[in-house]
Amino acid sequence: MIQAVRGTRDVLPDEVAVWHRMEAAARGLFARYGYREIRTPVFEETDLFARGIGAETDIVAKEMYTFADRDGGSLTLRPEATAGIVRAVIEHSLLTSDPALKIYSLGPMFRRERPQKGRYRQFHQVDVEAFGFVSPTIDAEVIELALAYLDACGVSEHELVLNSVGDRHCRPAYVQLLREALRDRAPSMCPDCRRRADTNPLRVLDCKVKEDQPTIETLPRITDHLCAGCAAHFAEVCRQLELLGIPYRLDHRLVRGLDYYVRTTFEVTSGRLGAQSSVLGGGRYDGLVKDLGGPDAAGIGFAVGLERLALLVPPREVEGRCDVFLMPLAAAGLDRALRLQRELRQSGLAAMLDPEGRSFKSRMKQADKLGARFVAILGDDEIARGVWTVRDMARSEQQDVPEEGILDHLKEKANA
Ligand code: HAM
Repeated sequence: MIQAVRGTRDVLPDEVAVWHRMEAAARGLFARYGYREIRTPVFEETDLFARGIGAETDIVAKEMYTFADRDGGSLTLRPEATAGIVRAVIEHSLLTSDPALKIYSLGPMFRRERPQKGRYRQFHQVDVEAFGFVSPTIDAEVIELALAYLDACGVSEHELVLNSVGDRHCRPAYVQLLREALRDRAPSMCPDCRRRADTNPLRVLDCKVKEDQPTIETLPRITDHLCAGCAAHFAEVCRQLELLGIPYRLDHRLVRGLDYYVRTTFEVTSGRLGAQSSVLGGGRYDGLVKDLGGPDAAGIGFAVGLERLALLVPPREVEGRCDVFLMPLAAAGLDRALRLQRELRQSGLAAMLDPEGRSFKSRMKQADKLGARFVAILGDDEIARGVWTVRDMARSEQQDVPEEGILDHLKEKANA
């Protein structure tokens, strides 16, 4: 039997209510903050990600689904949304008509990581991006929006972690400092750190290997080496978060896995997620739009992993999927029931019947399983008397309703 590809998963009908909730919360909330939706393709030119995310990042170096197109070009399934959105913003000159552009997107992303709980090869993100804002106020607002989104999904136990990774003025000097500090330390560290000490020293700060932790603690900290502009920006972001009553923890090691970040970076983690504890991550990426061929516009945003968020969304009571379950017991009742079913559906109600002619008992069970609020029975006796027997499932009461008034009766009851 053919099975789902490793690292992909099906969202089954029983789980889908949670997904609808996460999607509806995104659309409702983001609109209130002035964001509009954008939908970009799931594959792009490979170069976009190599240039946008950074050739030395794990995502680009090890995790992309890249394939040759039939005409010889190289295409890649998007591993994240930001690069594609930036490409679309530039291509359609969206910043010309709206220099303060707020957009969001929802959809599948693809990374060839080692699958485990909360980590998949196809996963879904809700992604939010704001372009053209340099003020620290938007950093605080975007972070506040990220938390408001979790809140709208009913998720409250989490921690906001914050850092500043500096900018093009101060980071190069810091990275150089890090590289020098790592020169004599790296040989005794894990193979990943040894490699990164040279290729991407910032990523050493991300290492989780226990034996390396004491060494990493001795490395210089970016927050001690920010230029005046970055330090002032970061201080103002923190002040505004405090103003808004948003608690956070500073973590000078939060460098994130994508190269485009400058200044503010943040993640929200939850202890309930296990090893893959980050439910969302984001930051500022001034310079990316220009690097990809667009105007010199600032950018900031975040993405939420929906598979991880779904693990945190509290289950709700199962919602009934059926207003009226029709039970034509006599063959003669079937035609009438089919017409009534259509009329009920046309008037906006969820109506169902079992056309397979199963026993009364098994049909009642089916009605129960569907959460039917009313069951309308039409047997020989009812046909002879020109009525339906209507059973109110919650109250366990039933009554006769004349055939000519049945549609109005059910509409009135179901909409009450
Ligand atoms: P990211 O931290 O790579 O950032 O991903 C954001 C979120 O996507 C993570 O916190 C996690 O919840 C989810 N995620 C990532 N990889 C996987 C995976 N393999 N399986 C399941 N969930 C996953 C970005 O993607 C940036 N583009 C965010 C951003 C937007 N920054 C600025 N704007």
